[in-house]
Amino acid sequence: MKTIEDLDVAGKRVFVRADLNVPLSNGSITDDGRIRAVAPTIAKLLQAGAKVIVASHLGRPKGEPDPQFSLAPVAVRLGEILAAPVSFATDTVGESAKATVAALADGEVTLLENLRFNAGETAKDDAERGAFADALAGLADLYVGDGFGAVHRKHASVYDLPARLPHAVGDLIATEVGVLKRLTDEVERPYVVVLGGSKVSDKVGVIDNLLGKADRILIGGGMAYTFLAALGHEVGISLLQKDQIPTVLEYLERGKANGVEFVLPVDVSVSGSFPDLKTLAPVADFEVVDADKIPADKEGLDIGPKSRELFAAKLADAKTVFWNGPVGVFEHPAFAEGTKAVAQALLDSDAFTVVGGGDSAAAVRILGFDETKFGHISTGGGASLEYLEGKTLPGLAALEG
Ligand code: 3PG
Repeated sequence: MKTIEDLDVAGKRVFVRADLNVPLSNGSITDDGRIRAVAPTIAKLLQAGAKVIVASHLGRPKGEPDPQFSLAPVAVRLGEILAAPVSFATDTVGESAKATVAALADGEVTLLENLRFNAGETAKDDAERGAFADALAGLADLYVGDGFGAVHRKHASVYDLPARLPHAVGDLIATEVGVLKRLTDEVERPYVVVLGGSKVSDKVGVIDNLLGKADRILIGGGMAYTFLAALGHEVGISLLQKDQIPTVLEYLERGKANGVEFVLPVDVSVSGSFPDLKTLAPVADFEVVDADKIPADKEGLDIGPKSRELFAAKLADAKTVFWNGPVGVFEHPAFAEGTKAVAQALLDSDAFTVVGGGDSAAAVRILGFDETKFGHISTGGGASLEYLEGKTLPGLAALEG
C-alpha cells in the first residue's frame, strides 16, 4: 500500500475518507476520539500544502438529508482540534460541496456533509454506488483512505472511490492494521479476549476464529445471557438470542476440545427494568444475584462483584488482551462497575492491551480512564472484529490496488 509520503499532495485537492461517526447527545459530541484519531493525518496533509476535503458518514440516515445526523457539530470540533478553520459543505456532491472545495486555498480544509445523505453511498447496486463515487471523484485529485472504522463497508467512498483516484493509506489505518497484525500473526501468550456488547450474533464470526487462537475468552454484556441460557440457566427478562443457543453450545464444546477456556459471569447485577439513560435516575430494585439464579422478572445489566474479581484474575497473567464491548450498561452508574473493572484489569496487566471498537473505546474515555495507558484503543468496532475474523475488508482491499 502507498502511504501519504508516496503522494505529491502540494497544491492538490486531497479527499480524506475519515470515520467521524461519533456519538452525539442532543447535538453535542459525547466522545471525540475518532476526530482526534484522524486529525494528525489531516494536519500532515495541510502542512504539506494540500487542499483537504474530509468526508465521513455519521449514524445510519436513510439515503437522504436528516438533520439529526448532520456532521456540522463535527466540523466545529475538528476546527478546534486542528486549531484551524474548517469550512463546511451542506451537501456531499452538490452546489455547496463544489463551491466550498473551489474556495479552498493550499493548506485549507473543508468537511462535506454526511455521505449517507446520498443513497449512492451505501447502495448494493454497483452502478448506483459507482455514480456517486464518480461525483465524489470530480471534487478531488487524490484519495487518502483513513476511515478505519468503515473499512469493512463496501460503500462508494470506501470501496469505489479509491479505484477512481491515485490513492494512499492514511496514518490511522496504517497504525490500526499494524496493531491488529500483532493479534493475528505474532501473538504473545496467554492471549485473553474479553467480549461484551449486546448481541452474540455480532460476535459469532470472531468467536469462531478465536477458538483457534485465543487461550481464554471472557464473556460479559448482553451476550452473556445467551451463554447462560445455553447452560440451562434461567435468565429472566435479560437479553437473549434463543436462535444462537445451538451455536453457543457448539462453541463451548469446541472450546473444550481446543483447550480454549470460556469464562462466564458467576454473578450479575439485575433490575426489573432497563435504567433511564437520559435522567440516570437511581435504580430502586437493584440487586446482585448468582448467575444461575436470575429471578424470572429481572434483567441482568452488568457483571457482579464476584465476576469482576474472576475476570480480573483471568486477565492478570495475560501477555496479549483484546477487548471488544462493554460488559454492562456502563452509561448508568449502577451498571458501570463491571466495565470499569475490566478497564482497570487491563491497566494493571503487563499485557499488550487492545481496546477494539466504538462502544468499549468510548466507555474507557467516558468512565475517565487515561486512554494513553492502554496499548491501543482502536477506532473500529465492526472493522476490527471483521479483521480478526480473517475477512477481506473492502476498504483495505481497495487501497491495495
Ligand atoms: C462504526 O461505528 O462501527 C462505523 O462508523 C461503521 O458504522 P456502520 O456500522 O453504521 O457502518
